Amino acid sequence: EQTAVQEQSASKVVLPDAQTVTSVKHWNDRLFSFRVSRPASLRFRSGEFVMIGLMGDPDPKTGKQKPLLRAYSIASPAWDEELEFYSIKVQDGPLTSKLQHIQPGDQIILRPKPVGTLVHDALLPGKRLWLFATGTGIAPFASLIREPQTYEDFDQIILTHTCREVSELQYGKELVESVRTDELLNELMGEGFADKLVYYPTTTREESPKMGRITDLLKDGTVFRDLGIEGLSPETDRGMVCGSLPFNKDIMEILEGAGLREGANSEPAEFVVEKAFVG
Ligand code: A2P
Repeated sequence: EQTAVQEQSASKVVLPDAQTVTSVKHWNDRLFSFRVSRPASLRFRSGEFVMIGLMGDPDPKTGKQKPLLRAYSIASPAWDEELEFYSIKVQDGPLTSKLQHIQPGDQIILRPKPVGTLVHDALLPGKRLWLFATGTGIAPFASLIREPQTYEDFDQIILTHTCREVSELQYGKELVESVRTDELLNELMGEGFADKLVYYPTTTREESPKMGRITDLLKDGTVFRDLGIEGLSPETDRGMVCGSLPFNKDIMEILEGAGLREGANSEPAEFVVEKAFVG
């Protein structure tokens, strides 16, 4: 009997938190995105993350399997029927070495307890919203730029995305294009709502129209010259930051240098930060 259960759980997750994969897209050999069914009871705020994963390998001694879970930002907006995620593929990564092989119809585990600080509630009202991402740190912003409240609350939304190579920008590029042409959003927000959205992609290790770390381009004024903005001010500018720890630290220094303060759900302020999760 034991063996039958083990075999079953190896091929199909038999857990209450199982969700079904509906589509998978591979962006290059290191990045993929996928969509899964959404639990009917799951409510979340655009920008939050959940724990997702797969059953781990059976323990060699006991034969028992434990769920292997990691934090993933929900890349889809709160109104979407499905949930989208954007992930790296690490060849020897405990989870992503397996997760990268999922196919439509497969099941993943999703713990329906969304949390996170990259939410509108953690920011004071402002005019301009800066979304600063590196790599897969764009995921929570993929949710937020499809969230109507983002356009209701701000006059301008600037999404910066810094990656090493051009191919790593593709997910964000198509995302921004899809927002501009989204029928539902255009109907709801009025034609041209997406004119508020400014996309500012940069690469650091491969030639592209805009090269350099966003931190350097902010410090030397390039970003402000390019966008016709005077600079950052605590009266008008709000920020959300999602990347590696060193990236987050460097952006925070720039924002704090301009007089912006870090906020939280319990105490909204001018910017919020979350580490991009790595699978
Ligand atoms: P760089 O190529 O100059 O290191 P990673 O893959 O290492 O997480 O980096 C993703 C992108 O973020 C790369 O383009 C990288 O630039 C950039 N980056 C890494 N660390 C920082 C930082 N502290 N400040 C700004 N950009 C950074």
